[in-house]
Amino acid sequence: MEIIEEIPRLIREGKKKLEHILNSSELKFHHELILGYNKLQNHGSINRLYKIDNIYAMKDLLDNGYSSKIDLIYIDPPFFTMADYYHRIEVLGKDGKEVIEYKAYSDIWKNGLIEYLDMVTIRLYLMKELLSDIGSIYVHVDYRTVHYIKIIMDCIFGRENFLNEVIWAYKSGGTSSKYYSRKHDNILVYTKTDKYIFNPQKEKSYNRDFKPYRFKGIKEYEDKLGWYTLVNLKDVWNINMVGRTSKERVGYGTQKPTSLLERIILSSSNENSIVADFFAGSGTTAIVAERHNRRWICSDIGNASILTIRKRLASESKNAYELLNDKSNEGDIKLNLDLDVKVDNNNKIIDINLNRYDLDLNSIKFKKGQKDILKKIQKENSLRLVDYIGIGYIDKYNKLIIKEERYRSFNNLIIDRCIRVPIYQESRKSMCIKCIDIFGNELLQTL
Ligand SMILES: C[S@@+](CC[C@H](N)C(=O)[O-])C[C@H]1O[C@@H](n2cnc3c(N)ncnc32)[C@H](O)[C@@H]1O
Repeated sequence: MEIIEEIPRLIREGKKKLEHILNSSELKFHHELILGYNKLQNHGSINRLYKIDNIYAMKDLLDNGYSSKIDLIYIDPPFFTMADYYHRIEVLGKDGKEVIEYKAYSDIWKNGLIEYLDMVTIRLYLMKELLSDIGSIYVHVDYRTVHYIKIIMDCIFGRENFLNEVIWAYKSGGTSSKYYSRKHDNILVYTKTDKYIFNPQKEKSYNRDFKPYRFKGIKEYEDKLGWYTLVNLKDVWNINMVGRTSKERVGYGTQKPTSLLERIILSSSNENSIVADFFAGSGTTAIVAERHNRRWICSDIGNASILTIRKRLASESKNAYELLNDKSNEGDIKLNLDLDVKVDNNNKIIDINLNRYDLDLNSIKFKKGQKDILKKIQKENSLRLVDYIGIGYIDKYNKLIIKEERYRSFNNLIIDRCIRVPIYQESRKSMCIKCIDIFGNELLQTL
């Protein structure tokens, strides 16, 4: 059957599934991980990152009063590329840097395009429930699916609420001699109603021949290229991809540039608005929202994504906490962090010395040849496999309040072995250390 003939069925079934999800108590959030970030100095806002399939994250939000509360949703779901995506990390071995890649997420759909569209449809229905009456949704896809998604969006959000198709054009990627090189993505913009937030942003428009026009009443500016005026943003955006040499690169395969999200967030939300991204990846939306004083909610299912976001946020936002549950320390993989703790009660400080990190590398799937490299590094210095250390305490609500963070970055591949922290008076008995390895395996130990 033709794909187009299947779309009415997807829409009908999506609607039924929505009713089921809204009314179901079985589908309650089975808590995997929620990270919160309190921006106390600002509006006391609570920002959160869910590690779970976004259906559960959205259900949790709807059950907790977020219906029609989100002013801007940006999603950048898998594009139906039929490929796996890898997270690229550098680890320091005895002989220098080694590059390790492991699967971040899969964009392979065994049952084809219908399975993919079905996945997207039900989630779009849920997003509509969360979107406020002055809200907008940006759906970032590409030539493979945009025409089908446009029809699905028309059915769910209404053709009259279609605002724009933004073309994001870039130079990176390969070329072909068999067809025109594919150098753009498509971002469909819909609103919930005809009253929506829109703050026009400006861009440079260079004068012909880069010379001044000197028209009366029109302000002109000059830069290295020549003379220009400022005009309202058009719907074709030329923004560079996050390339190999880009400063903001974090190694996540499908990371989007902050300047792309900046345009979207500044145009379609206000300070204090809630901005959401349910396919968060490396967390670009959260980072930009944080920088521009928006509240944010993100979700992703992948270890690599959550770890990347956690580290990116550590340098942007303080006051992180984690909602703990009985399963917070239960993974499939056996882990152990061997450490010594020295308490100096007079000076109210603790010295933590990390000795060894144990992880069973046989339980992780790697690209060919990489396990041996890692085994060698593990033997030489197992702490090189640790990516993040958080130190804090557990409060009376079973929240892990993270006070100190140490993490590896592109420029610094080693975590300090010795960490000195103050004794947190709030809860000295429940001081904890959170350790996350480069694969995103998490461990929580009492100090
Ligand atoms: C294209 S990436 C997003 C990249 C992101 N915009 C950035 O700037 O890094 C898509 C993400 O969707 C996540 N994902 C796929 N299916 C999901 C689901 N059902 N629930 C939550 N996240 C999902 C993947 O793990 C992946 O990180």
